[in-house]
Amino acid sequence: MKFSIRGVIPTVVLAAGFVSALVSSRQESTSALKHRRGTLQPRRTKSLLINPDAQPDLPSLEAATTAASAAYLNLDDIQGDVLIGMKKNKELFYFFSIANATEFKAKLASDILPLITTTTQLLSVSTQPITALNIAFSQSGLTALSITDALGDPAFAAGQFYDLANLGDPGPKNWVKQFAGTRIHGVMLFASDTQVNIDNEVADVELALGDSITKVYTLQGAARPGSEAGHEHFGFLDGISNPAIDGFTASPMPGQAVVASGSILVGEAGDYVPRPAWAKDGSFLVFRQLAQLVPEFNKFLTDNPIIEPGLTLQEGSDLLGARMVGRWKSGAPVDLAPLFDDPVLGADPTQNNDFTFEHPGSILAINQTSCPFSAHIRKTRPRADLSTPEETEHHIMRAGIPYGPEVGKREAAANTTKTERGLAFVAYQSNIGNGFQFMQSVWANNPDFVHPGQTYISGFSGANAGAPRVVTGLDPTDFTKPITLTTDFVVSRGGEYFFTPSLSAIADTLSV
Ligand code: HEM
Ligand SMILES: *[C@@H]1O[C@H](CO)[C@@H](O)[C@H](O)[C@H]1NC(C)=O
Ligand SMILES: *[C@@H]1O[C@H](CO)[C@@H](O)[C@H](O)[C@H]1NC(C)=O
Ligand SMILES: *[C@@H]1O[C@H](CO)[C@@H](O)[C@H](O)[C@H]1NC(C)=O
Repeated sequence: MKFSIRGVIPTVVLAAGFVSALVSSRQESTSALKHRRGTLQPRRTKSLLINPDAQPDLPSLEAATTAASAAYLNLDDIQGDVLIGMKKNKELFYFFSIANATEFKAKLASDILPLITTTTQLLSVSTQPITALNIAFSQSGLTALSITDALGDPAFAAGQFYDLANLGDPGPKNWVKQFAGTRIHGVMLFASDTQVNIDNEVADVELALGDSITKVYTLQGAARPGSEAGHEHFGFLDGISNPAIDGFTASPMPGQAVVASGSILVGEAGDYVPRPAWAKDGSFLVFRQLAQLVPEFNKFLTDNPIIEPGLTLQEGSDLLGARMVGRWKSGAPVDLAPLFDDPVLGADPTQNNDFTFEHPGSILAINQTSCPFSAHIRKTRPRADLSTPEETEHHIMRAGIPYGPEVGKREAAANTTKTERGLAFVAYQSNIGNGFQFMQSVWANNPDFVHPGQTYISGFSGANAGAPRVVTGLDPTDFTKPITLTTDFVVSRGGEYFFTPSLSAIADTLSV
């Protein structure tokens, strides 16, 4: 069967009756793009993505197309990684610098653009490529391409290295040396279901780009094996609570935050910052290599079980871990399952986000029985703590993946990490100062957030420039009991701020 993606979108758009001047002009520019991309043969019988039960499914192509038409979003012009969340199976981050801008621009247009995977393409197996490719640029990369327009994002413009102290990192000593500075011009994200596919695509892309780029650094990510797929290295299921995007997510789950497309996509409804026209439908990509000290974290839990009647020591340790995250390993929220994991609840996306931290008869600002104020998910999304209805300013689309090997028997026995592992953290937003940067520095690291007057830095992802962190609220029998963390179980190895442009921006601005 011959399959053309050319026919699909316009037909649905027309059928849905949304033909405004805006849509038709966009339709024209993307049909020009599609023309260049040619007719695609179905290449896959099996998805390149994972889809753990606890995470909401991606919308179907039909549902996403209908939602997008209503919101005037063009999913053919948005790079595929921005809206799909934490569903990658294997992913390679390839950081490069541009050695010859003239040559790079030519290759970007002729060889790379046709390989860039769109959002639409990822939504059905029949249009997925063997290996998905996305590309993003740092400020120094845009400068190398002689792009002088300011994108309107100060954090991006300065680069992540400049932001290190603000993020709570203890100086550059733990930074991967290639991230220290502004040497990295861009990153290519290669995603597939097998390593071989990725390696082949990398070889093709390297051949095409030749000497126009220099490889600076790579990080290989992979979903954890077997039933741990979707879980981060401490063991907790991840990627459950990403916001529903107006114009993309067809049916938001109960309790899922619904945000304007412009909180993730530049230039869309809800993004009020003045930007150059070509930046529309791009998104800022925050990359962080966050090492996780798993044996050390496990020892800490073993050594500090929560003592409650009816709990074994092991259950008390499990409870401490769950309260640090705000969810059990299965994904069940402690706010709904306060003492024991509930895997059925965890696996059900219609229930596992359906909470606000508010309980009848309990005073929200003082009662930490159900969920500590310092819990990772409460620090990064305070739900009813801030307002009801929930504020929608500070949301990110998380799209990271674990990296590094499973914990070995010897490492576990020695309570000491020998081989680095962690989270290749990726977050998309239209404004880094409202998204990742805000969450990390104003929320997670701030002992006075969200209910001032008590001390609680996030014991999980919060940072205090390497100094010990005092966390209260973890023990449900005594909220005031401080637990002092002398080890950071999550260690920032640095990263960079990037901009993931639309396909038309690559075609019409970045490659010319
Ligand atoms: C190694 C570091 C990290 C690990 C292991 C980790 C792990 C997790 C886990 C297990 C969840 C619960 C699953 C879910 O609700 O989707 C979660 C949620 C979340 N994390 Fe992280 N995380 C890390 C770093 C960060 C950082 C640096 C940020 C941002 C500054 C962040 C922002 C969030 C947000 C926004 C949520 C969803 C909260 C909600 O909507 O309820 N995480 N993370
Ligand atoms: C950059 O590439 C162009 C086109 O391939 C070539 O003409 C030029 O000599 C190169 N410049 C340098 C400094 O290598
Ligand atoms: C805190 O809230 C729980 C219900 O979530 C309630 O059982 C408990 O009595 C409350 N504690 C205080 C001190 O208000
Ligand atoms: C590892 O930590 C556990 C829990 O504290 C302890 O029982 C064990 O002796 C430690 N092992 C080593 C080698 O230190």
